[in-house]
Amino acid sequence: MSAFVPPFPPRAAKPLSTFQVIRRARRNLLEIFGERAFEIQLSVTRVLARRIFICNAPDLVQYAFSSRNAAFERKSPQMRHALEPLLGDGLFVSDGETWRRRRKLVGPVIHTNKIGLFAPIMVDTILEARERWAALPEGAEVDALSQMAELTAEIICRTIFGRQLGASHAREVVEGFSDYQRHVGQTDALSLLGLPDWLPRWHGPALHRSKARIHAVLDGIIADYRRRGASGETSVIGHLLDARDAETGAPLADEALRNEAAVIFMAGHETTANTLAWAWFLLSQAPDVEAKLHEELDSVLGGEAPSLRDVARLPYTRAVIEETLRLYPPVPILAREALEDETIRGRPVPKGSLVMVVPWLLHRHKQLWAEPDNFTPERFLPGSPEPVSKFAYVPFSIGPRICAGLSFGMTESILSLATLAQRFTLRLKPGHDVQPVCRLTLRPGETLPMFVMPRRPAATPAGPAAGPEAAAPACPFGHA
Ligand code: HEM
Repeated sequence: MSAFVPPFPPRAAKPLSTFQVIRRARRNLLEIFGERAFEIQLSVTRVLARRIFICNAPDLVQYAFSSRNAAFERKSPQMRHALEPLLGDGLFVSDGETWRRRRKLVGPVIHTNKIGLFAPIMVDTILEARERWAALPEGAEVDALSQMAELTAEIICRTIFGRQLGASHAREVVEGFSDYQRHVGQTDALSLLGLPDWLPRWHGPALHRSKARIHAVLDGIIADYRRRGASGETSVIGHLLDARDAETGAPLADEALRNEAAVIFMAGHETTANTLAWAWFLLSQAPDVEAKLHEELDSVLGGEAPSLRDVARLPYTRAVIEETLRLYPPVPILAREALEDETIRGRPVPKGSLVMVVPWLLHRHKQLWAEPDNFTPERFLPGSPEPVSKFAYVPFSIGPRICAGLSFGMTESILSLATLAQRFTLRLKPGHDVQPVCRLTLRPGETLPMFVMPRRPAATPAGPAAGPEAAAPACPFGHA
């Protein structure tokens, strides 16, 4: 088992003052958590006018996000103010009746049972990326973070818009979203401190320009799609155009369609890219884990490129992804707002309080995990006692608002890692310091320079082909 302890920000031994919290939060949100945050079950703090509750035990996660979800289903003001200009009433930021109706419409389009339709797009796109790496000189330096961002953006674009439109517009869409993220950054840090919801936020002209640019691209693609028709291609847009509201029978209006396309792009692109980038970094630092991964890929695939049928036959590859998501959850903080006066473990929670589940803390909690900071994929192999509860491991959130693209993201991550690691190992550029930084998502810094080294898979014969039941992999976290 790997004894490798990957990097994490320094943890203060003593409680921080409000001033220190604000200063650290602006630099890197993860720096606000001291040593004790990884030991306690419920933390209650007040930052100026706002009370903040952190649910850091499986029963509390279940209470806030599952059994009492209706009381805490609204996303935090910070999240809403950052994303509403771009996503409007889209699934990710809406709540109440709008969210319920949209979830019923959008959820099925990217659900587990649709993976069979989208997996061929994933496989082809990953193989194209592999070809591009194969054309590089041995040991070429790449930025693994942007390489993975490009790959996942191409996959999600082709999935949303169909192979043709998706391929031709991928770059524009990616640039628009990265631009938006850069400008949105810290614009609303004040919500955390209790700035009232009704006060207009100043986003600045740059943010509005990047929003307008993304909307124009998406509107153009949707109009193009309507003009040209589906041409027999599988696409999320095609399914959304066909979808009807269960109660009214009405189709989605163009603006709603654009908002949902933006949600799926935003939610499904950077999360998976960061997961893969972290996985490459972790593998490069843990030769024993890397060797076991290669052994599985060689013996199961026997040199053939993986397809959806192989995903269920690669338990170690899955465990590497799951352990990566434990150590570096792409969404490290899940923040909601109490809609009414509530209680948590008997403590009064006034309306408007922030109620958080923080995967970054929960996944490294000292009472829930053995050697919580170590990189140990074995903890996710069948038969392991960890995780102790499905509410102790929540990289995709949990409850009614669980990630709608969980199976999509897992399948994409496993196929990407398997296909690329079959032929390449990545080595970190010497002297490059990797540190987790939390912006909207958790990333290994701004870049991840790595050297691409070709590898030849050992010619072990492939195992028996998986049966048809392997085609739609079961949700690994026990959800339907
Ligand atoms: C490793 C990859 C992924 C991770 C770790 C991840 C994680 C998450 C998390 C934590 C949330 C809840 C956020 C919150 O409550 O603030 C979420 C929501 C969501 N995700 Fe993912 N996601 C991933 C991939 C994807 C993909 C590939 C798609 C689409 C194809 C997707 C679509 C969505 C949508 C639509 C929501 C909003 C669900 C709702 O509010 O009802 N995600 N994701």
